[in-house]
Amino acid sequence: MRRSWSHFFLILLCVAGEGADISKPGCPSKCGDLAVPYPFGIGINSSCSVSPFFAIDCDASFHPPKAFLTIDNLEVVGISEGKMSVKNRVALECYDVDENPTQSIQFLMNLSGSPFSFSNDNKLTVVGCDDVAFLSRDDDDWTDLISSCVAICSKPGELSNGFCSGIGCCQSSIPEDLQSIYVYMDTIKWHSKVHNFSSCGYSFLADTNSYSFNVSDISDSSIVTTITQTVPLLIDWAIGNKTCNQIGKSICQPNSVCVDSGSTLGGYRCNCSNGYHGNPYLSPGCQG
Ligand SMILES: *[C@@H]1O[C@H](CO)[C@@H](O)[C@H](O)[C@H]1NC(C)=O
Ligand SMILES: *[C@@H]1O[C@H](CO)[C@@H](O)[C@H](O)[C@H]1NC(C)=O
Ligand SMILES: *[C@@H]1O[C@H](CO)[C@@H](O)[C@H](O)[C@H]1NC(C)=O
Ligand SMILES: *[C@@H]1O[C@H](CO)[C@@H](O)[C@H](O)[C@H]1NC(C)=O
Ligand SMILES: *[C@@H]1O[C@H](CO)[C@@H](O)[C@H](O)[C@H]1NC(C)=O
Ligand SMILES: *[C@@H]1O[C@H](CO)[C@@H](O)[C@H](O)[C@H]1NC(C)=O
Repeated sequence: MRRSWSHFFLILLCVAGEGADISKPGCPSKCGDLAVPYPFGIGINSSCSVSPFFAIDCDASFHPPKAFLTIDNLEVVGISEGKMSVKNRVALECYDVDENPTQSIQFLMNLSGSPFSFSNDNKLTVVGCDDVAFLSRDDDDWTDLISSCVAICSKPGELSNGFCSGIGCCQSSIPEDLQSIYVYMDTIKWHSKVHNFSSCGYSFLADTNSYSFNVSDISDSSIVTTITQTVPLLIDWAIGNKTCNQIGKSICQPNSVCVDSGSTLGGYRCNCSNGYHGNPYLSPGCQG
């Protein structure tokens, strides 16, 4: 009797041990420093994830290893309940002193067909002094526009850190359930009036908690590296495209409840019941 109880506690300790209950048994729980909780899982054809969309390709040729989704080759930097953070992309446009464009970069991200969408915690953000950014669903300019934002200024002295209301920095809302985005830029006066302190404009999507306007970003081309390295894009995730009612029996384990994603794309997630903790997607479920 005593022996079986200690055996039982040993198993409990192992289950509660570091990282042990976040991934499916037999599956790695981390890619480098990134914790990968089920329904996500490491390995493309490994059955460690709930579906191929949630499979993480852990590329150990990088030091530390990098985690990629199969969809759009997005690099995952964080996973939490209902959200994941991915490496950002930046659109930009630069002009020379004669008003000619010298550099122009747009970006497209496409999650169509997956259970992922761009979180509307992200705002379309522009940093610049003579710049307009456009967000549309596909890469035909001027069609299917969803959001735009204008950032202007006449001198650095009128800008303030942390203040983003159209002067040097602009942020516009994006709708929910967006699955493809194309971001491109334009200008009003080709930077002719601001060229000696601002020759480029930049645009990206960021959540207001992760990007705060810094006046030096106006004239510092290292903003591109700063944004891609430190300001992630937030993605919403849910399982499948059916609601809890439509699915009948969800994969939610004991002491957890099935919660509809609330998105028009459908899908559900599992949530530990009040006072319980653990991974609600894996046996034995949430623990008191
Ligand atoms: C996954 O399986 C598919 C089909 O069997 C195969 O074509 C592909 O190469 C596999 N990918 C990896 C990374 O093993
Ligand atoms: C996004 O991907 C879907 C599915 O692969 C495709 O049908 C659609 O044309 C793509 N959209 C763009 C803008 O590339
Ligand atoms: C830019 O040029 C204007 C006049 O054309 C001048 O007043 C201003 O000090 C210059 N600013 C910088 C940062 O050099
Ligand atoms: C603004 O950016 C500069 C240069 O990168 C940095 O030294 C400074 O600490 C930043 N200020 C704030 C408030 O983040
Ligand atoms: C829902 O998901 C299934 C399986 O992945 C897919 O075949 C179907 O097209 C999806 N339905 C919609 C409306 O996206
Ligand atoms: C999930 O559970 C947590 C803690 O019990 C609660 O704060 C949260 O609102 C729940 N989420 C949903 C969508 O029910």
